[in-house]
Amino acid sequence: MKLLIPHVPVWCIVMIWAIPAHSKLEDDNNASAKPSFLGDVAIGETIDDIISPSDVCKEIVALIGSAISNFTLCSVTNARPIHLCEWCVENYIKVVEVHRDFLAKVDEAGNPCKEYFLNLDRVEIVSDAYKYVEDLWAKGKCNSCFRTLPNGTLTNNATEEVRQFVTDYERTKGCFDDWLNANITGLNLTACDACKPLYDQMNNKYMEIGELYGENVCVDVVDTMNITRELWSELFQCVPERKVEFWLHIGFGIIAIIPLIFYFFAYVLSTKQEARVLQQHRLAEVFANTSASGMSDLSGYHSSRLQESTRSRSMPTTEPSDNCDNRVT
Ligand SMILES: *[C@@H]1O[C@H](CO)[C@@H](O)[C@H](O)[C@H]1NC(C)=O
Ligand SMILES: *[C@@H]1O[C@H](CO)[C@@H](O)[C@H](O)[C@H]1NC(C)=O
Ligand SMILES: *[C@@H]1O[C@H](CO)[C@@H](O)[C@H](O)[C@H]1NC(C)=O
Ligand SMILES: *[C@@H]1O[C@H](CO)[C@@H](O)[C@H](O)[C@H]1NC(C)=O
Ligand SMILES: *[C@@H]1O[C@H](CO)[C@@H](O)[C@H](O)[C@H]1NC(C)=O
Ligand SMILES: *[C@@H]1O[C@H](CO)[C@@H](O)[C@H](O)[C@H]1NC(C)=O
Ligand SMILES: *[C@@H]1O[C@H](CO)[C@@H](O)[C@H](O)[C@H]1NC(C)=O
Repeated sequence: MKLLIPHVPVWCIVMIWAIPAHSKLEDDNNASAKPSFLGDVAIGETIDDIISPSDVCKEIVALIGSAISNFTLCSVTNARPIHLCEWCVENYIKVVEVHRDFLAKVDEAGNPCKEYFLNLDRVEIVSDAYKYVEDLWAKGKCNSCFRTLPNGTLTNNATEEVRQFVTDYERTKGCFDDWLNANITGLNLTACDACKPLYDQMNNKYMEIGELYGENVCVDVVDTMNITRELWSELFQCVPERKVEFWLHIGFGIIAIIPLIFYFFAYVLSTKQEARVLQQHRLAEVFANTSASGMSDLSGYHSSRLQESTRSRSMPTTEPSDNCDNRVT
């Protein structure tokens, strides 16, 4: 033991400790917690009859398989350029409907069909296949492309903005096509000028959709815009479109203007104060004899402000008498 202990790797201990937490041992021991697919045994039934789902349940589960298969085929074939949401929405709705029917379905003997298929083994074929569809749809954020009924049911009807976006895209694409077909050598600034209004319109619509849905713009729209932007800047080599970093521009604008404002006020104040300072020198001379210290401080203050603005911002406003003397002499 003495020798063995140092050789036992730490991860081994961790694994031994971790395994029970992830296994379904507790569940398996508790038979009554498991949903049972063993219904009441009728006369003349064989074991196969008992352990196999009834025909009603087999049918509905086959329908799920068919629907998921149709959706999968559609999603894979429309992966590039991506039209997952737009062209597979009907398949998706079908999967959801059939799955809902399946969960509610009861066979002739009164057993819910789902009890034959769900939570019985570690593979969970039916629910995993369904989960795959749900996850893919959610990942594409496809719901945001379509209207939903007041009761929350998804329709295959695209939202108004998305319809307009698709129309704008078709137009822009048409313009691109015209220029491609006209002649390749003609692809220069003229093509950019010709298609720019359409391209801008599409871009604006995209921004509008982005404002409405934020992160949840559906993948078809995002990808369509991405491709169009690439065509625009790579293929047609038009000026890279102004990304609407509107606030960034505003920010730069303000930063650029600040020094101008500063110098403007510095100029205005200094010309005013120069006049004042000249007057106050006279006054200071008058009051010097009567040793009115407050007044001379004040004049010093103004002249130091003047020098501060013409030389350096960080100059201290104290020691007024020095500055005053410099001006006077
Ligand atoms: C087994 O399941 C039953 C009913 O669901 C529950 O009352 C019981 O506490 C469970 N036993 C264990 C050991 O989990
Ligand atoms: C899947 O597609 C096939 C062929 O288009 C169709 O016959 C079948 O009804 C579809 N399945 C479902 C569940 O809609
Ligand atoms: C929602 O409403 C529509 C019609 O308004 C209906 O066809 C559909 O079954 C409803 N869905 C749910 C889940 O109630
Ligand atoms: C889609 O929405 C339009 C309204 O924009 C409506 O006229 C049309 O009936 C809807 N189509 C379906 C299939 O719900
Ligand atoms: C290319 O297009 C320009 C204007 O669009 C036209 O003048 C020129 O004849 C075209 N060349 C060819 C080879 O089609
Ligand atoms: C763009 O191409 C057209 C037609 O080929 C030509 O007339 C025009 O001068 C070109 N413009 C530039 C800026 O190259
Ligand atoms: C746009 O397309 C490029 C390559 O074609 C890709 O690298 C990039 O991630 C895409 N952007 C978005 C937002 O999809």
